Amino acid sequence: MPAPLDLDPAALDAPALEALIRHHNHLYWDRHAPEISDTDYDRLVRRLQELDPTSTLLQELGPGKAPQDRYGAPVRHKRPMLSLDKCYGDDELREWTATFTGDVVVSPKFDGLACSLWFNEQGELYLGATRGDGLEGDDITANVRTVTDIPLKIDLGPREVEIRGEVFMRLSTFSAFKEKFANPRNLTAGAIKQKDPKKCAAYRLSFAAYDLLGTEARTEQEKLDLLHRVGFQTYERRVVPREKAVDTYREFAEKRPTFDFEIDGVVLKVDRVAEQERLGLTAHHPRYAIAYKFQGDSGTTKLRSVEWSVARTGAITPVALIDPVMLSGALVSRASLHHPGYITKLGLTRDAEVLVTRRGGVIPNVEHVVKPGAEPIELPSRCPSCGNEVRPKDDFLFCADPSRCRAARLGQLAHFVSVADIQGFGDRMLGELYDRGLARSPADLYKLLPQDLLAIERVGDRLASKLINEVEAHRSLPLEVFLRSLGIDELGKHVSKILASEYRTLDAILNLSAAELASIHSIGEVIARSVTEGLQGARPLIDELLRFVTLQPVAEAQESARSAQGGPLSGESFVFTGKMAKLERKAAQQKVEALGGTAPDAVSKNTTYLVVGDDKSDGKKSTKEKTAEKLIAAGAALKIVSESDFLARIEALEHPAP
Ligand code: IVH
Repeated sequence: MPAPLDLDPAALDAPALEALIRHHNHLYWDRHAPEISDTDYDRLVRRLQELDPTSTLLQELGPGKAPQDRYGAPVRHKRPMLSLDKCYGDDELREWTATFTGDVVVSPKFDGLACSLWFNEQGELYLGATRGDGLEGDDITANVRTVTDIPLKIDLGPREVEIRGEVFMRLSTFSAFKEKFANPRNLTAGAIKQKDPKKCAAYRLSFAAYDLLGTEARTEQEKLDLLHRVGFQTYERRVVPREKAVDTYREFAEKRPTFDFEIDGVVLKVDRVAEQERLGLTAHHPRYAIAYKFQGDSGTTKLRSVEWSVARTGAITPVALIDPVMLSGALVSRASLHHPGYITKLGLTRDAEVLVTRRGGVIPNVEHVVKPGAEPIELPSRCPSCGNEVRPKDDFLFCADPSRCRAARLGQLAHFVSVADIQGFGDRMLGELYDRGLARSPADLYKLLPQDLLAIERVGDRLASKLINEVEAHRSLPLEVFLRSLGIDELGKHVSKILASEYRTLDAILNLSAAELASIHSIGEVIARSVTEGLQGARPLIDELLRFVTLQPVAEAQESARSAQGGPLSGESFVFTGKMAKLERKAAQQKVEALGGTAPDAVSKNTTYLVVGDDKSDGKKSTKEKTAEKLIAAGAALKIVSESDFLARIEALEHPAP
């Protein structure tokens, strides 16, 4: 809060007023660090108008320079941007959770750059700054304006707010720059510091908001909901009782490979603001938050041998068998070696002393050789599962014919049942079915008869009919799930979801060229190529599966996901533009919210609908319409609809036909 003015303007003459006003105008507009309130500032200006209405200063008030010209200017943070306290193990985390009561909000720790955004009382973004040393950062307003995740205007009522978050680059965006840059974080730092905002825009940076300052929100959840409502992206987060902190950390650590961004840990924050205030701050970090960093314990041990297994793709992957060692509270005797190239890269030998860590405190990994052993490690010359020939490709080694390799086929079956969520078919069961020739491909599961299952040891009537019912219940799959179930590299959760919601039918997706796919905002060229090639290769499997499986229309699948969550519009966001003929904008927004949807004020690529008011007095396109058209051209799923279409939909939802 700027301090009240302790001078009486009436006591000052015109030159003294001019000097004072010039000073505060500069503090407000150029330094973003006002020292007096807006009202006091206005009093000074009004007094000058009375004393000397011809003063040229009165014409000069306002921002001194355009955002471009301010680039790099120092910005003093109103509240210091502190760091986070860190921990590396479960016990340390438990110690922290013992210091407070209530829930914690758990979210990924984005590996990007902290950034502060200021919105004025009209809701306009007027300042973006880097964290700098925490007290003073650099002005990057012109560049943050190019980040499409950052709305330029928000509606949080007539108040000035600060929003803090992380600027980062999606991995799918980074894949296009991989050759030239070490990691997305360095590239983000380079991009946000470009002098020319157009150059910054070309890097398609993203933004995750994690803090909102200047409202009365009483919990972190409320803040994050408000941020979402005004147009910021929200990311995976969980609110759990503090007793669940360690488990939830682990869930995030395990999900790490599925995120389209790099994270270097998990952030846990006390949910209730009152409890946060009770805990307070140190000069370095708040006591109400902590970052559990990925980088578990490490220890040295001996590498005894290497076990080779075959993945569903036919990739033959090595696992290190090591002398058991205690790491992050568990006895570890196996550690990942990724691919054969990794063995060469590390120069691994049998009986070598190696350093093993638990990355993310979870997955044991051989980091490097401490003392070499004598015997070299030989790569398999035949597939360890089917004995077929092997085919090397770059750092990898593949079974030459995965279509006839037991391990690869079983891997595919296991992947299918897991993605389609068909319960009861563990590795043992699938192995039995495979060996009896009853399940060689995912489609075979749909042909199983009770007598097939009854022939297996330990399977009785009850279990057999349970398994059959389980398969029956999964004859209709959402498109997104079907795509992912195919087990194509790079066609994971994220890409499948985008494809299903963008193209809606399998035919449309199968007909896509790599170039068309790559034009979608978050899918890079490399992924696009691997997905289109993968789909080509999977054609026989797709055709076979479609004899048994029907695909749920995309709208229907979304509908069922929605009703599981709450109101019929949950997951959808409606932005209004132009004057409405039938009802006030506020009333329309309330209707949307009552039905579970959101109604932010700004259009972003996450908007579902832009509703154009029917009262078109001037017939011109609004800025929101133009923004929406650009987003659509860039591949956003957003749709522009009329007020009457909108009302028809609301009417149908409010008064469903019997
Ligand atoms: S909360 C007092 N939440 O990590 C700071 N920070 O190492 C409270 N970060 O400066 C920040 N993801 O830039 C928070 N989900 C998240 C975050 C996050 C990344 C950054 C942030 C902070 C740094 C500390």
